[in-house]
Amino acid sequence: MNQTIHPKQALRHVLTVPGDKSISHRAVMLGALCEGTCRISGFLNGEDCLSTIGCFQAMGIDITVEGTSVTVHGKGLHGLTAPASPLQVGNSGTTTRLISGILSGQPFSSTLIGDDSLNSRPMNRIATPLSSMGATFSGTEKNGKLYAPFTITGGALQGITYSLPVSSAQVKSAVLLAGLYAEGQTTVIEPEPTRDHTERMLRFLGADLKTEGNAITVSGKNPLIAKDISVPGDISSAAYFLCAAAICPGSTITVKQVGVNPTRTGLLDALKAMGAQITLENETDLCGEPVADITCTYAPTLHGITIGGAQIPTLIDEIPVLAVVAAFAQGDTIIQDATELKVKETNRIQTVVEELQKMGVDIEETADGMVIHGARPLHGAKVKSHLDHRIAMSLAVAALQAEGETTVQDAQCVDISFPGFFDLLERM
Ligand code: S3P
Repeated sequence: MNQTIHPKQALRHVLTVPGDKSISHRAVMLGALCEGTCRISGFLNGEDCLSTIGCFQAMGIDITVEGTSVTVHGKGLHGLTAPASPLQVGNSGTTTRLISGILSGQPFSSTLIGDDSLNSRPMNRIATPLSSMGATFSGTEKNGKLYAPFTITGGALQGITYSLPVSSAQVKSAVLLAGLYAEGQTTVIEPEPTRDHTERMLRFLGADLKTEGNAITVSGKNPLIAKDISVPGDISSAAYFLCAAAICPGSTITVKQVGVNPTRTGLLDALKAMGAQITLENETDLCGEPVADITCTYAPTLHGITIGGAQIPTLIDEIPVLAVVAAFAQGDTIIQDATELKVKETNRIQTVVEELQKMGVDIEETADGMVIHGARPLHGAKVKSHLDHRIAMSLAVAALQAEGETTVQDAQCVDISFPGFFDLLERM
């Protein structure tokens, strides 16, 4: 599907966005491992989270989906059954890496298969710690490294202490989930904080989990107790509309009931540092996650900033759309320490640079990020999503302030995380 976008001014809207992708995945996974039934509301009915549901249904868990309400009839830590055929993980890195932690503790083998993008993403990062806990991985090897499709044979797991070599919530979560099945305690030490939804939800469901500085410890073999889970709006989806307000003169956009977990709000800090007006209202707690209404108001004088270090994990998925905002800011924006972008759904350093250049943005790739020389006029163009949902939506935001019309090719990939994105944008 090709999507054409025309420039817009003065966006004044109050809206909601679909449920948080990271939390929706975790709600299904942990719900399946609970004793009892979890009713999930505000679930993200996007392709990635539906892949997670499909995997657990294939392992004998009864899950019903009615719009954004999902009911998971958990069978406890030891209730999964061997799938009859390979588990289909689609485009979803979160499904693949987190489920691998759970599969490591099962008394059966299972094979994970994804799409071309997923099959080219690194899996050594989970295979290394999970193997040292007692699981066995075999699969596609290239240059001595593991990729999907791969097979996990679960084993009797032993708790470990593992220092993450990369800042990755997916790897941290895989090890903690395996830790639920392990003898003794499992500790993960992070170089810098990454999203902590797994820790919060495990605690919410009664797991024995402690955090001390950058070390998270879970005790194995304790049951999880079912509770109802409400999922907040996804800040990574809200990001496109907040950034649209930041660059379209005269705009004010409020996104209601969005998750504002401090491990996810780097974009808000970056926008404020660039000069945009951001306010939070109606702050509450939803099942252990902070939530608020976020408003972004256009400010005529955005300026470039430098982003790196510990800020990167707090806005890793928002860097493509932040690069778009940077294109409208005075001066240079430098994004550094962001090599992880190279192993996302696409190499997001390359795809952002290549596609924004087509629209006239003065942007260059660096070894660990990109530099954007802002405040040059943008023009509409024919651009490609590269089948990466976040690239498609970021280019759509750039199109709102480009001269002429922009066509985003292969735009249907937005359904991975934000079904209805273009309808919402069109309605504005
Ligand atoms: C996610 C963690 C991040 C993020 C991804 C979702 C999660 O990936 O980019 O979209 O739900 O844990 P990494 O763990 O690879 O940084």
